[in-house]
Amino acid sequence: SNQFCKTEIGIGEVGCGIISSSSTTKLLIKGGTVVNAHHQEFADVYVEDGIIVAVEPNLRELYYVRLLAELAESNTKFDRFLHEKSRVTYHLDKLDVFPPNVSGSVGDDVKVIDATGKYVMPGGIDPHTHLAMEALNTETVDDFFSGQAAALAGGTTMHIDFVIPVNGSLTAGLEVYEEKAKKSCMDYGFHMVITKFDDIVSRDMEIMVKERGINSFKFFLAYKGVLMVNDELLLEGLKRCKSLGALAMVHAENGDAVFEGQKRMIQLGITGPEGHALSRPPLLEGEATARAIRLAGFVNTPLYVVHVMSIDAMEEIARARKSDYFPKCVALFSSPLPSPTFIKAPRNLSFGTVNRVVKCTSTTRFYSRHIGQRVIGEPVVSGLVLDDSRLWDSDFTTASKYVMSPPIRASGHGKALQSALSNGVLQLVGTDHCVFNSTQKAFGIDDFRKIPNGVNGIEERMHLVWDTMVESGQISVTDYVRVTSTECAKIFNIYPRKGAIIAGSDADIIILNPHSSFEINARSHHSRTDTNVYEGRRGKGKVEVTIAGGRVVWENNELKVVPGSGKYIKMAPFNYLFSGIDRADASYLSSLNAPVNRFKSTT
Ligand code: URP
Ligand code: ZN
Ligand code: ZN
Ligand code: ZN
Repeated sequence: SNQFCKTEIGIGEVGCGIISSSSTTKLLIKGGTVVNAHHQEFADVYVEDGIIVAVEPNLRELYYVRLLAELAESNTKFDRFLHEKSRVTYHLDKLDVFPPNVSGSVGDDVKVIDATGKYVMPGGIDPHTHLAMEALNTETVDDFFSGQAAALAGGTTMHIDFVIPVNGSLTAGLEVYEEKAKKSCMDYGFHMVITKFDDIVSRDMEIMVKERGINSFKFFLAYKGVLMVNDELLLEGLKRCKSLGALAMVHAENGDAVFEGQKRMIQLGITGPEGHALSRPPLLEGEATARAIRLAGFVNTPLYVVHVMSIDAMEEIARARKSDYFPKCVALFSSPLPSPTFIKAPRNLSFGTVNRVVKCTSTTRFYSRHIGQRVIGEPVVSGLVLDDSRLWDSDFTTASKYVMSPPIRASGHGKALQSALSNGVLQLVGTDHCVFNSTQKAFGIDDFRKIPNGVNGIEERMHLVWDTMVESGQISVTDYVRVTSTECAKIFNIYPRKGAIIAGSDADIIILNPHSSFEINARSHHSRTDTNVYEGRRGKGKVEVTIAGGRVVWENNELKVVPGSGKYIKMAPFNYLFSGIDRADASYLSSLNAPVNRFKSTT
């Protein structure tokens, strides 16, 4: 505290008003523990127009200190200063709200939120969702509005969805998704799926990266005859990704072998949902993960493995990340120097004595640790907390709701994935939220191959990761922020605009009460689907407030969302995983000692 707090005289000419209105673009979150991926502190957070302006303990007092300092400067008469000091101080102690004055006038509307005893954290970012996705002649029941509303109710304030090309065309696919996303109520970004490769796709990939804000491309090694790519196409794609500074992502299951496994199950008469899991065992996930990792190593480009569901896949990632990082062959493509990212300098956020302003210029770059081969592993909530037992449930609706690919594995895999998340082998948690209702799931009542794949999770992720990982003591609160938000922002190059509570960041904030509890069921969830794979689960820790783009959208168990309020977030290429890749390529090449045309025919 400071000396001014003790004096009491009349209200001063600084004219602080009493704050009332709730429809405000100014927020003060008081008294909470602000958590970022690398530190936590008791601090207040002040938000204006969707941007975090200041993060400091006792902001209210700092504000007045600044005001007094200004008065002292503008008044040569010292007694005048003392006079004002007293007046201001009186005001400070009478008000229980903080009227910060960043731009001049005091007394604007500020909504004050008390976060005492709670955690104030960056809103979750879900790196893996499928909203309004078409599959098997139907479409997921959650679209960009309902899926995002559910996300906000669960503390997630941004997601990255997968654009599916139209007949292989990326531009046509993006157009479709831009249309779907118009009803968005929270910020979102896009990955782009690659299903074929030719000159047009190659050119369009460049357009996506340089003009459309997409910095990642996903290759399906499964779903034979639909989305699956072969090794030749994967290699072409990896090379192109490297040249553009885009991140290659893989759905890693051996699609040819899965196809065989499915036929075998049907031959055996195993047509129920358990047949889905039995037809695509962990070794096929391990094989494809290993293959993708080695091919990415061959090209020497970073790789992101989506929905790591098994010990088999996780161990391949662990091995790659522990390996010596050095090109294993002559790089197929030497990457150009990274171009500047999109990160913009924040608005002028000078706030007197509050000086923790992030000064990001257009070339500021942020790094995360990487070791060995640059491979990222993404577990999803279902893989971390569920097991395959319910696939054998006697009720088809119950059993089929767990059908997703790769399958939810036998118990033991989940626990191993949790350990891998806590020890850094896996880096961030997604959901693969892709929901079909029980009517749609019933398309496959006679044949598991016709059950649309996918489970829910966009609303449950933040709670389940908290309960499973933090409440159990497996990770710290700061690591929670890293795996649910910050690491995703870094990988997709939108940090610190997203994934941080620092001045200059977007005001995507959650307040989690660790003493409160959550309960999940299909009756009360906000998704449009009629089932929930986490039905009946309870746990510790509750997201009580969600702030998205500076607006309070979730409070007192009530959602206040507006279609169209979400923004498309462009993501720049050359994330931190690309650092050093060009130098490694060059030094490997120069170390080869292999002369060109060493032998020549004499004829
Ligand atoms: O079953 C799943 N995962 N459905 C969504 C598509 C995918 O493979 O990510
Ligand atoms: Zn004080
Ligand atoms: Zn997938
Ligand atoms: Zn997916």
